[in-house]
Amino acid sequence: MIDRVKEHLEQVNAFTSKDAQAIEEFRISYAGKKGILNSLFAAFREVPADEKKAFGQELNTLKTAVTDKIKELQSQLNNKGVKAILSDPTRTPFPIQTGNRHPLAVVKNRIIDIFTQIGFTISEGPEIEDDWHNFTALNLPEYHPARDMQDTFFIQTDPDILLRTHTSSVQVRYMERNQPPIRTISPGRVFRNEAISSRAHCIFHQVEGLYIAKNVSFADLKQTLQYFTESLFGNSKIRLRPSYFPFTEPSAEVDIYWGLETETDYRITKGTGWLEIMGCGMVDPNVLENCGIDPNEYSGFAFGMGIERIAMLLYQISDIRLFFENDVRFLKQFKATL
Ligand code: DAH
Repeated sequence: MIDRVKEHLEQVNAFTSKDAQAIEEFRISYAGKKGILNSLFAAFREVPADEKKAFGQELNTLKTAVTDKIKELQSQLNNKGVKAILSDPTRTPFPIQTGNRHPLAVVKNRIIDIFTQIGFTISEGPEIEDDWHNFTALNLPEYHPARDMQDTFFIQTDPDILLRTHTSSVQVRYMERNQPPIRTISPGRVFRNEAISSRAHCIFHQVEGLYIAKNVSFADLKQTLQYFTESLFGNSKIRLRPSYFPFTEPSAEVDIYWGLETETDYRITKGTGWLEIMGCGMVDPNVLENCGIDPNEYSGFAFGMGIERIAMLLYQISDIRLFFENDVRFLKQFKATL
């Protein structure tokens, strides 16, 4: 019995091949389910007691030899494959997995590009805000009913500290530190205590815009937005619908004309052909005053939009949650810059 094992060991050590199929056959004949190793292990029972130890040792040596041999031959095979590919001058280059920007970053950068081209600067503020900058200075004093429009996350230990509900807080900070002329946009992350659904998320992104100078009029606002929508959507038809925001007077919501050509157009525009893309208005004199700017000398406009909403329109994405799941199969589709 033990001699049979030794014979196998010699054969295994002597075996060599560069042929994938021969190697596989070798593997099956030794290490396969019905292979030699298993049948020898099964024969172990019949070996006389005094030979069991020597037999067992020899069998283990054989098993290790088989495993090592298979590993060695297979790795030679792989190396040979890689070498062959590398030495082939006609091969296509290895596809390098490059990363790409998140669609929200792509859209944000595009918006920034459009506004910086007409002289807007970029400003930022903290995500953890105080009541003054997020609400009170924006003409939303304590107990103002419009505070309910934005479900707020408060920091439990201090009701004065909260997660900003909009980037309008940055316009307050900017005006406190700068005198007109002011032309700035503020992109950033905002937080609201909303139930997550296909259309709402509790963390999302906005871009706020602010223009303050002498004699700024509603016509300037409209023209700026016209330029913006034309640059971003290639579509110049917009309309301003009267609306209400505490920090602007008058206030409006901006719709772009989307069209009514397909079934999807009907669905997403609710049959009107128009889509709301942002809020805007003339900065309320109270806000200017709160921020140390003389409303008798200066006037201005402001606007605010959600980046997710714009990205969903541009890319025809129907579920906002996709932006936050970070599934590479989704993210990889946005390689092209807008
Ligand atoms: N802050 C508003 C919101 O989060 C958006 C907004 C509307 C900003 C009108 C503005 C504005 O500056 O003028 O819903």
